[in-house]
Amino acid sequence: TWSTKAFIEEQVNLIKEKVGDKKAICALSGGIDSSVSAVLVHKAIGDNLTCIFVDHGLMRKNEPEQVIKTFRDKFHMNLIAINASKRFLDKLKGVTDPEMKRKIVGEEFIRVFEEEASKLGKIDFLVQGTIYPDIIESVNPIAGAVKSHHNVGGLPENVNFELIEPLKELFKDEVRKIGLELGIPEEIVYRHPFPGPGLGVRVLGEVTEEKLNIVREADFIVTDEIKKAGLYRELWQAFAILPNIQSVGVTADKRTYKHTIAVRAIISEDAMTAEWAKLPHDLLDRISKRITSEVEDANRVVYDITSKPPATIEWE
Ligand code: XMP
Repeated sequence: TWSTKAFIEEQVNLIKEKVGDKKAICALSGGIDSSVSAVLVHKAIGDNLTCIFVDHGLMRKNEPEQVIKTFRDKFHMNLIAINASKRFLDKLKGVTDPEMKRKIVGEEFIRVFEEEASKLGKIDFLVQGTIYPDIIESVNPIAGAVKSHHNVGGLPENVNFELIEPLKELFKDEVRKIGLELGIPEEIVYRHPFPGPGLGVRVLGEVTEEKLNIVREADFIVTDEIKKAGLYRELWQAFAILPNIQSVGVTADKRTYKHTIAVRAIISEDAMTAEWAKLPHDLLDRISKRITSEVEDANRVVYDITSKPPATIEWE
């Protein structure tokens, strides 16, 4: 049987041999794949690895703090954390087309990453969290054609780094096992997948700081209630969307005109197809009540009852 310990030992030796005394960098997003790759490489080459974490301001609640706490304080890794929210928001100003938004986030990410990397002197290696399904998807014309998927960490090929991709033969469940063995917190290991452009594609239409704050708070409530109900790990993803619709409501006998929050929860094996989750009504009720009372700018909550196909998982 496949042993996580043996895999880790083998990879650590291979990476040590490959890198020697040279230096490597890594784009750490806080997602499971980049986290496990970074910790593996750090185990092999220690301070010769520098991780760059670009906070594009489109992350989930508490995520940037958690990345810094975990990798800098717990694993003692060289971590450069860049808060680039303002840059991304400026670039996204006035942009409503979903593909354009994805392109902008992807390109700006590379720009920020390269700027930081260029300050580090000579770097020979780039660590990437590529896993086996990423390779299949990139050669599968149908999967690639629907949306341009920008994995944060996906960098242009003209940069002359040699790649280190320790997970490229593994499936997600194997990556999770390796992550646990390496001591990565369960919260990161089991965290639901999150698109590279983050909340930028969960606010439909133009992205503003105000709308990001609304969807981020709502998303936190959705996740929190699903965790409390013990259903988090059974779902592939569960999250909030801000469809950019305002509607009429009433609070304390006063008319309101506020945002609608859409809730999406799905069951899936590999994200290629997905079924909408038949969440218990009392759970949906708690989510709705909390969102409308705790998120000031929301007065209505709807549940997405569409599977993939015909819908995609994300709304943009
Ligand atoms: P869709 O919306 O195409 O999403 O059904 C399938 C899965 O991919 C995730 N997703 C992304 N992941 N970069 C990523 O790394 C992206 O740009 C991106 N867009 C969507 C989505 O969350 C779902 O799990």
